[in-house]
Amino acid sequence: VLLFISIKEAMQKGSAKVAVRGWVYRERKSNKVAFLVLRDHSDIIQCVLKKEKFEEQWQDIDKLLIESSVEIEGIIKKDERAPTGYEIEAEKINIVGYADVFPIKKDQSAELLLDERHLWLRSRKMTAIMKIRSSVFAAIDDFFRNRNFYEVAPPIFTPNACEGGATLFEVKYFDDKVYLTQSWQLYAEALIFSLEKIYCNSPCFRAEKSKTSRHLAEFYMAEMEMAWVDLNQVVKYAEELVEFIVKRVLEKNSEELKILERDVSKLTNIKSPFPRITYTEALKILKEKEGLEIEWGKDLRTVEEELLVKYFDKPVIVTNYPKEIMAFYKPADPKDPKTALCFDMLAPEGYGEIIGGSQRETDIEKLIEGLKKEGENIENYEWYLDTRRFGSVPHAGFGLGVERVVRWICGLDNIKDAIPFPRTMLRKSP
Ligand code: 4AD
Ligand code: MG
Repeated sequence: VLLFISIKEAMQKGSAKVAVRGWVYRERKSNKVAFLVLRDHSDIIQCVLKKEKFEEQWQDIDKLLIESSVEIEGIIKKDERAPTGYEIEAEKINIVGYADVFPIKKDQSAELLLDERHLWLRSRKMTAIMKIRSSVFAAIDDFFRNRNFYEVAPPIFTPNACEGGATLFEVKYFDDKVYLTQSWQLYAEALIFSLEKIYCNSPCFRAEKSKTSRHLAEFYMAEMEMAWVDLNQVVKYAEELVEFIVKRVLEKNSEELKILERDVSKLTNIKSPFPRITYTEALKILKEKEGLEIEWGKDLRTVEEELLVKYFDKPVIVTNYPKEIMAFYKPADPKDPKTALCFDMLAPEGYGEIIGGSQRETDIEKLIEGLKKEGENIENYEWYLDTRRFGSVPHAGFGLGVERVVRWICGLDNIKDAIPFPRTMLRKSP
């Protein structure tokens, strides 16, 4: 018997008898011949079924619509006119599952495609994105494991806020309530005392009330935390991680990037080190080059980030944001105490912040002060404060927004296409 192989493997054979299976991607029939473009995970290929060979099955073949599933055996050969340069002259077909009329037609609205997401995921576009996403996940693992980091899975139910109360999702927890995690960070800070170098790639949840092209309510964050390092050392990891991910996708996914019509010249130059500026310097650039006056102490908004990155063709690292507007765990920079030892990495081409990170405050009194200022109940953070009571050490870390990176690498208009089933304020199904 002939074993099933993927369409890509079949095309690599060039000319042979092959058996492939998949779904009808396009179909065109006359009363003499049926052209079925077959799709599997690897590629698409045109299959030709001549009626004279399938007299008995012709009625059934005639009922095949887009997305029917079939198994086909036949002779593969080169054919310039076929969509992917090869064609299978079918000798046998086994119809596995018929399809109803497919609800997705050409040029449909983004909203309809989201309503039909479970089906739209079969498109070449979404398939290409999901393959790139898979490469990004693998690259993150390889990057950290190659550098002897331990992977740790953080809890998802948490009693504490990590990034402020405004975006917490509250969940009924037996007779009590907890929150869905916004970041693993507080737990990571406890774990570095045993494992020292750790990472995760884990779901995070934020009740973002903004309807932007870069916010999800459920997203993946790849986070790292390290003992014995300062801000500069983790920034270096962040740069190398991003360089590593982009390089991996360029190696593994050139076909997918082509399907997405991504301008890869914008990716081939992503080599570390990246330009580094301070928040104060960013304001200066915005003022001098854009005539934009931003009051010192205000966070950079999306529009301002977009204007800023116009002057760079690599990701930009912005350090030393105003201490006042930063989370409680970010320490003041002793050289410039109005600012914090923290950084954001902004993607080129206006794709926005992809990484946020910082050195961590080790002074327990300052942590308590910061938590109080954010209106937190110190009692809930006693366990976290213990990390500073038992052999506190300098440490730092960052979090990379996986969908933000996938969106940038793929060149997508909206972050929703960077995750299979997006959740936002306005969308929670399918
Ligand atoms: O800058 P953030 O809020 O940093 C933290 O949560 C730190 N505790 C991380 C750490 O130091 N371990 O979030 C980190 C990154 C952002 O730069 C962004 O890329 C992504 O997470 N992110 C989101 N991505 C999609 N949708 C959202 N709503 C996001 N919020 C943050
Ligand atoms: Mg941030």
